[in-house]
Amino acid sequence: MTVRHFLSLMDCTPAELAGLLKRGIELKSLHQQGVIYEPLKNRVLGMIFEKASTRTRVSFEAGMIQLGGQAIFLSPRDTQLGRGEPIEDSARVLSRMCDAVMIRTFAHSTLDTFAAQSQVPVINGLSDDLHPCQLLADMQTFLEHRGSIKDKVVVWIGDGNNMCNSYIQAAMQFDFQLRIACPEGYDPDPAFLEQAGGRVTLLRDPNEAVAGAHLVCTDVWASMGQEEEAQARMQSFAPYQVTPAMLDRADESVIFMHCLPAHRGEEVSAALMEDPRSVVWDQAENRLHAQKALVEFLLID
Ligand code: CP
Ligand code: NVA
Repeated sequence: MTVRHFLSLMDCTPAELAGLLKRGIELKSLHQQGVIYEPLKNRVLGMIFEKASTRTRVSFEAGMIQLGGQAIFLSPRDTQLGRGEPIEDSARVLSRMCDAVMIRTFAHSTLDTFAAQSQVPVINGLSDDLHPCQLLADMQTFLEHRGSIKDKVVVWIGDGNNMCNSYIQAAMQFDFQLRIACPEGYDPDPAFLEQAGGRVTLLRDPNEAVAGAHLVCTDVWASMGQEEEAQARMQSFAPYQVTPAMLDRADESVIFMHCLPAHRGEEVSAALMEDPRSVVWDQAENRLHAQKALVEFLLID
């Protein structure tokens, strides 16, 4: 049997993704009712973090515990990965001990290399290119607040980064219109844009982009690994701060999302974080339930 990996949203069919969102909502409800559901007893998720994390680490770890399993946190600092053991060898060893492995890394090719040698499912917990787990939570959050996202207008404001690339893939898989407003020089990877075809439009003016939007999203201006560019980026991105006034130009049903961590006064104003249209805390909470649905799907279904 071939092992299923989740390195990008394209590893699932649209029907499978819709099933994951539905299941995430069910698992959330079971949890809120206090129902104990432990189908992953004795199952182990290995988690390799080459970059920092709060939400991804805690949601996978808490999720595995809630499902009856365990998660093991691994960082290059404390493992042989940091001393040059090849990723292929690590994959062969870890996949003989763990039932699934989550990796947060820099180059996306690290995930591909690991997955090629892994006997167990590999989950992308963020790479320089993509952040698909965050999109499961975002799509679940939209579904809970506003129903189906099909044919809705989603606007991405800011950097054409890993989150933006995953939004492009989400536009294909969940069938919505995506407008991206980013400064020149910070466009998303053209390969992702080409794949998405007419569903995705690239603009420069964020105020023009948000007109009629049903969902507006942003993210940090300098991602992990780009710390040295932070100062230069601050200038280019200044007109791209998302504010309540910007959202006033959108559809009256608009909601705002940010994958967090947020930098108030940079990509988002402090006021918007507290605005009733902001669903960022629900979005963060849904990482837990969306990923429980994902792990269940990869390990049991
Ligand atoms: N949104 C997200 O992935 O957060 P962390 O970096 O805290 O995991
Ligand atoms: N684009 C951000 C997302 C953090 C969750 C980063 O890669 O740092």
